[in-house]
Amino acid sequence: MEKKVVFSGVQPSGGLTIGNYIGAIKNWISLQDEYDCYYSIVDLHAITVPQVPKDLRKNTLEVLAIYLACGLDSEKSTIFIQSHVPAHAELTWVLNTISYMGQLSRMTQFKEKSKKSEENLNAGLFTYPVLMAADILLYQTELVPVGEDQKQHLELARDLAERFNNKYSPTFQVPEPLIKKEGARIMSLQNPESKMSKSDENENGYILILDKPEAIRRKIKRAVTDSIGEVKYNDEQLGIKNLINIYSVFSGDTIEEIVNRYEGIGYGKFKEDLAEVVVEGLRPIQERYNELINDKDYLEKVYREGAEKASYIANKTLRRVYRKVGFIQR
Ligand code: TYM
Repeated sequence: MEKKVVFSGVQPSGGLTIGNYIGAIKNWISLQDEYDCYYSIVDLHAITVPQVPKDLRKNTLEVLAIYLACGLDSEKSTIFIQSHVPAHAELTWVLNTISYMGQLSRMTQFKEKSKKSEENLNAGLFTYPVLMAADILLYQTELVPVGEDQKQHLELARDLAERFNNKYSPTFQVPEPLIKKEGARIMSLQNPESKMSKSDENENGYILILDKPEAIRRKIKRAVTDSIGEVKYNDEQLGIKNLINIYSVFSGDTIEEIVNRYEGIGYGKFKEDLAEVVVEGLRPIQERYNELINDKDYLEKVYREGAEKASYIANKTLRRVYRKVGFIQR
């Protein structure tokens, strides 16, 4: 029996945060045995905001090394760089022609990003979710493991798949999001009402997967809490709630176990322990990363083989799409 397909990706726009790890990459690892997985480094998406070319190249390889260091296995999964498979850009064009301006302008991420970059409001930012839909639909994906913030984009991908299928004939699998309840939305350490993000101006708001132990300890120590002073899991204590979530993911302990353990103990000790849990959780990833990032030949082998495998499947879908819309076979 054929395995179901999983697709996901991360943008190579600077260091990845533990939000990316918890919300996405960590969940990808366990899917590798059961599913036919495609994990991409989405560089076409990254250029919708200004990039320094040499940094983009560096960041792309860094993300690849992080993927592998976290436990993605190129023998089990197809790991590739998005721009190496031209079918992504080609299908985007076709999907653009069935995308409604109204729906695209209601995308939360577009609205937020356009507020930030009013002077450079490029069309790529607007059609960003269409490219994302193309990523997913090219592989006949059934499941897309992402954080909560991508849910709306996933809905668009489903809409486009259904619209195309209805307009022509069944062509695309309609994908489902896979969003884990815990850790689907890791919040900023400085403002627990907004998402942890690498584009935060305040670097104390996020922890990077590659942060040094000292930086991790410092950032957790400074994390915003409240004046209640009890380690409890509720919406009145969003800062602490977020820290408990992080603790739970890195330690494997349940929320209840953590809350019980710190009953009657202040935030100081809780934060100290949390810092060690995160440092120890990231240590093996960082060690493996340091080996991999220096092995450029190996990284190149992984992304070349990945692109070849991905292209084969992507081109099959693209050929069907081209035929259905009426293009003459090349
Ligand atoms: P990106 O690069 O912003 O984030 C990559 C993944 O990390 C998740 N994530 C988080 N999860 C929990 N808490 C957080 N604070 C947090 N921050 C980020 C995101 O939900 C995402 O899963 N458009 C996508 C990349 C993409 C993609 C795709 C994803 C392009 N094509 C096709 C899935 C399928 C993005 O910008 O993710």
